[in-house]
Amino acid sequence: MKFHEPRNLAFLNALIITGVYIFLFFISDVLLFNQVPGNFLFYIILITSAFLLFILVNFIFRYTLDRFIYSKIRLIYKSIHTFKLGKKEKPPVIPDHDIIDNVQHVVDDWEREKQNEIEQLRQLEQYRRDFIGNVSHELKTPLFNIQGYVSTLIDGGIDDPSINREYLKRSEKSVERLIRIIEDLDEISQLESGQIKLNIQRFDIAALTHEVVEMLEIKALKRDIRITVNEPDRHVMVEGDKEKIRLVLTNIIDNSIRYGRKSKGHTKVTFFDMDENILTEITDDGIGIDSPDLVRVFERFYRTDRGRAVTRKGKGLGLAIAKHIMEAHQQTIQVRSTIGVGTTFGFTLKKG
Ligand SMILES: Nc1ncnc2c1ncn2[C@@H]1O[C@H](COP(=O)(O)OP(=O)(O)O)[C@@H](O)[C@H]1O
Ligand SMILES: [Mg+2]
Repeated sequence: MKFHEPRNLAFLNALIITGVYIFLFFISDVLLFNQVPGNFLFYIILITSAFLLFILVNFIFRYTLDRFIYSKIRLIYKSIHTFKLGKKEKPPVIPDHDIIDNVQHVVDDWEREKQNEIEQLRQLEQYRRDFIGNVSHELKTPLFNIQGYVSTLIDGGIDDPSINREYLKRSEKSVERLIRIIEDLDEISQLESGQIKLNIQRFDIAALTHEVVEMLEIKALKRDIRITVNEPDRHVMVEGDKEKIRLVLTNIIDNSIRYGRKSKGHTKVTFFDMDENILTEITDDGIGIDSPDLVRVFERFYRTDRGRAVTRKGKGLGLAIAKHIMEAHQQTIQVRSTIGVGTTFGFTLKKG
């Protein structure tokens, strides 16, 4: 029995008081009549009155204790719920019984909730800090370039025909790079805030792949990389947001060119029928990705050391955007790779 509970405490108190009452009743009778009472009526009166007293005392104690505790705990209850109400929750239902147990539960729940919120806020804060750091770092390079070219032009370079056009062209390139960074950031922030509504439609992913390959052809030629799509005449119907999937394909194929083999490289796109889904795989024979990096290449701004060694131009946003897009489709995107042999990216889409 837990004595600290009001109902047990009241019971114990009633028991003690009734015991004392019986004792006094008995003693006073003995003192009054100088003998132990043997009368049947005496015992009936004693037991009945003791029983009634017990009930009464028990009730009074319980009631007062409950009221007292209830009034105190009500305040705690109220402050917790008013706090929660700020977050548009239901008005408090304050139970009359088991108040201590209930408050304990509420406080426990509340604490857990708060801990989670604090943890989430901490992560968000860390993310915000990283994000701002990364963004300013990314913006710095093209901005400083532009500043350098413009200053040189102002300091007389504008009249020097051997550099004036060239420096303006380079400035334009840096401006284009700035625009691309801003566009990617815009895309990723919209995807992360969950504001993006997918425009799901039925389309031929094989045809879309051909369009993307065509777009990247010149870039691939420059790097001596051949891109092939297996079974080129097949129609592969899927369901998804065509424009977003175009972005995913562009990012992955663009990577296969950028991080592909230096000469006579080959990027291969293959479609696999997987019952409910179509798996699209893009395989290159390029530099590859170390296994510790494999899980991280989808993080925003993450670039591998090998990738950096190939080019300083990357921003590490393409795959993060691709992953967000595939998650919004409730589909998967994965990667496998062997250093020096090549890399395969694959993503699934529902059959259309
Ligand atoms: N096909 C690939 N082969 C080798 N490394 C790759 C490949 N694709 C991506 N990576 C690595 O993953 C990183 C992130 O890719 P991505 O998000 O597209 O950024 P970016 O292309 O701007 O560098 C790249 O910097 C590179 O290190
Ligand atoms: Mg990329």
